[in-house]
Amino acid sequence: MGKFSIASSFLSVSFIIFFAVSAAPAAVAEDYEYRTIRSPRSLTAEETRVAADQYQRYCSLCHGADRQGYANDHAPSLRSKSLFRSGVPHEVLRPIQYGREGTAMGGYLNEVGGPLTLDETWNLTYWLFWQADARRVRITKELVRGDAGLGAALYAENCTDCHGAGGEGVNAPALGNPSALSHNSDEFIRYAIREGRDGTPMEPWKDRLSSDDIDSLTAFLRSRASGWEQSRVALREVPAPDQYVINKGGTDPEFDLQDGLYVSSDDLLKALTEKKRMVLLDTRVTSVWQRVHIEGAVPMPYYSDFDAIVDDLPKDVQIVAYCSCPRAAADDVVRRLRRRGFTRTATLYEGIFGWMNMGYPVINGQSE
Ligand code: HEC
Ligand code: HEC
Repeated sequence: MGKFSIASSFLSVSFIIFFAVSAAPAAVAEDYEYRTIRSPRSLTAEETRVAADQYQRYCSLCHGADRQGYANDHAPSLRSKSLFRSGVPHEVLRPIQYGREGTAMGGYLNEVGGPLTLDETWNLTYWLFWQADARRVRITKELVRGDAGLGAALYAENCTDCHGAGGEGVNAPALGNPSALSHNSDEFIRYAIREGRDGTPMEPWKDRLSSDDIDSLTAFLRSRASGWEQSRVALREVPAPDQYVINKGGTDPEFDLQDGLYVSSDDLLKALTEKKRMVLLDTRVTSVWQRVHIEGAVPMPYYSDFDAIVDDLPKDVQIVAYCSCPRAAADDVVRRLRRRGFTRTATLYEGIFGWMNMGYPVINGQSE
């Protein structure tokens, strides 16, 4: 890290000298005045109370108790004014409802298997808006035109450290994510690049790049969205308590747990192949269990009421919990279970994305 900051201060020194000598105009974007627009409706006291509770129950695990982000899995800030100026309602509402496929952000709308009603997802969006104390700006639905080829070069030069060479997200949101690109308007993306996200590592680029550069970056990111079709998954029935134990007639696995908690994907696969008796818990929001899960896994989201469900779980059978965070939600569930006397419990170390990356088997949802 130290080496990195020395290198970058050298860079900025030579940068200043270069411009002082050549007197070339620094690349900055022209000023663009965003017009402010009316705030959305405010919530009643009761709606506010419910939304605040739901935020803590469903969202704080990753986005943090104060909406600051980065509590787990690089979940972004949910209090930057920039996001709420440009993203309310749809760019904030849609990820809450449908999630971002392939990331830890699942969908919370009941229609896709989540715990919230349509009204509750709107209220949560507005609650976040009012908490952020931002003024909305007018974001058009017009296409941003730019040179996608130039955008690709600018992207490779400036953005890959955090967002990844393929836009997959390293310690920042995945910019090539099809579900994000299908919901985010061009102007929303351009606004994020111009203005940054206050209070996060995403800095405003309008001070460093020209308007044309920013448009080209936007056009490049947009060009990554092609070829994706929204599919709906037919909801399957969740297993009943008498179906929780898999391989009921099998023997118990003997896992050698790392830190007394973690089982590796290799060991779990071996136990499954040998038909060991176990309970697998998928601790993500149930909508993503609907999309993909390890065969036999029971949806047991991190926000479940554990006092109500402990009676459904056996204490003498090995329980393995997993999530995609890769471990945060599962660790949380295992901690709660251990507190209630479930000692044969473990977390899948690599999480389900790690498991899938190793090519291990999963059950996919059936498109409608
Ligand atoms: C298991 C972790 C996790 C939980 C729980 C979670 N999120 Fe997220 N959320 C993420 C991640 C990771 C992303 C970024 C995904 C990406 O790369 O695009 C995200 C993205 C978002 C975004 C998009 C923000 C942006 O800058 O574009 C919103 C809005 C959001 N989450 C709201 C919520 C709300 C509201 C809840 C609770 C109902 C919630 N999230 C629960 C992990 C989580
Ligand atoms: C130092 C790391 C870093 C660099 C470099 C960086 N970003 Fe970001 N970017 C982030 C982080 C972190 C976020 C999420 C901030 C938050 O809301 O918590 C983000 C958010 C964004 C978003 C908004 C995503 C959404 O769904 O809300 C866009 C668009 C974006 N960055 C584009 C770019 C582009 C284009 C570049 C290069 C010019 C770039 N970023 C460079 C870290 C970075």
